[in-house]
Amino acid sequence: MATKLHYTLLFLAFCLVVLQINGQEPAEGDTIVFDITKNGAKPNADVTQAFLDAWSDACESKKRSKVLIPEGDYLLGPIKLKGPCQTPTTIEILGNFKAPSSLASFKNEDTWFKVENVDSLTITAPKGAGVFDGQGQEGWKQNECVKSYVNCFTLPYNFRFNFVTNSKVIGLTSKDSKIFHIALLGCKHLEMTDITITAPADSPNTDGIHIGRSEFVTIRGFTIGTGDDCVSFGDGAKSILVENVTCGPGHGISVGSIGRYPNEEPVSNITVRHCTIKDTDNGVRVKTWHNSYPSTVDNLHFEDITVENVRNPIIVDQEYCPYANCIEKTPSKVKLSDIKFTNVKGASSGKEAVKLICSSGFPCDKVELADIDLKYTGSDGPAVSMCKFVKPTLVGKQNPPACDAPATPVVEL
Ligand SMILES: *[C@@H]1O[C@H](CO)[C@@H](O)[C@H](O)[C@H]1NC(C)=O
Ligand SMILES: *[C@@H]1O[C@H](CO)[C@@H](O)[C@H](O)[C@H]1NC(C)=O
Repeated sequence: MATKLHYTLLFLAFCLVVLQINGQEPAEGDTIVFDITKNGAKPNADVTQAFLDAWSDACESKKRSKVLIPEGDYLLGPIKLKGPCQTPTTIEILGNFKAPSSLASFKNEDTWFKVENVDSLTITAPKGAGVFDGQGQEGWKQNECVKSYVNCFTLPYNFRFNFVTNSKVIGLTSKDSKIFHIALLGCKHLEMTDITITAPADSPNTDGIHIGRSEFVTIRGFTIGTGDDCVSFGDGAKSILVENVTCGPGHGISVGSIGRYPNEEPVSNITVRHCTIKDTDNGVRVKTWHNSYPSTVDNLHFEDITVENVRNPIIVDQEYCPYANCIEKTPSKVKLSDIKFTNVKGASSGKEAVKLICSSGFPCDKVELADIDLKYTGSDGPAVSMCKFVKPTLVGKQNPPACDAPATPVVEL
């Protein structure tokens, strides 16, 4: 009896070994690896199709799968990795990619590297690899945003993650994007860590990462130097944690602009902490459009922020309007409440180190300044703070002295 069972088990084990050996792709433990070079990808050549083929094999695999990009510099056209996939999928990037510099190569694509409708995805690159060079120089020359808002966002972003859930992105570098580097839409439980974003300070609208309509997103350990906001939050950003981010050059970390469009979703529960902001226009900022549609922003926490050579370290601006057509002085209808600035310190390059300009129609509620220490060393005297339509609660140190002017009476609309 026992011998018969042993023979059966031995036979089964033998069959398993044969199956493994005959398998199409090498296995790494329980994971099947789809190497793009097995699909014809070669360094210094366009690997778009090989990448797509490896992705669809991995995505359709019934076993855990991995797309592997071996070391090497590759050319990559616009690419869209779509789910849903059968099982959790990884993309391991040991090489680097260059985008086409000509805009013609993008036809109507709004993105260079897009991931859409994928659950349980991990994208990883070790230190020094996974550089995505957007070659944005030609795009920057054709950027129309300075002149008009309408036709301006037609350049391709380096990355878009749309409806990506329960996923991780680790260690990539986004370089010289043609416009925004990274945008999130409809993401949930997404963790992004140790990402480097780089573009020249004068490259137009090269925002680092924009988080729109997403929740439970963590942004940790980013190093961002770019030509616009390092991190920005659009409408529908909820329960977002940004920590350990270094920003500069750039325009700072910004909630908004909010209120430009009808029916924007609320912005709520955002924490930005342990961040260093250097050589930028703004530190931590909340901006809403003048003459806006109604909306709400609440529960913002800015904690342990160090600034160096920043013009507006703390700024709430509800009179935002960068274009010449803002003659109408209708107050913003975005209601701001529960906003805390805690332990914000360092060197301001502008005299108005704390600037809280709320809406005359919807004054800010429950704004707290706690342990603020901002120095300004210009010839026009020490730093000051300025408040409109807000009476902040004060806790601990206040340098500059907090604006003690009583809140201006509420103007009923
Ligand atoms: C607020 O956001 C944090 C992430 O920053 C999250 O851990 C927490 O659960 C959120 N709170 C609520 C009430 O959703
Ligand atoms: C923040 O970054 C520093 C330096 O890169 C690192 O040592 C530390 O562990 C990070 N902390 C968190 C919470 O990620």
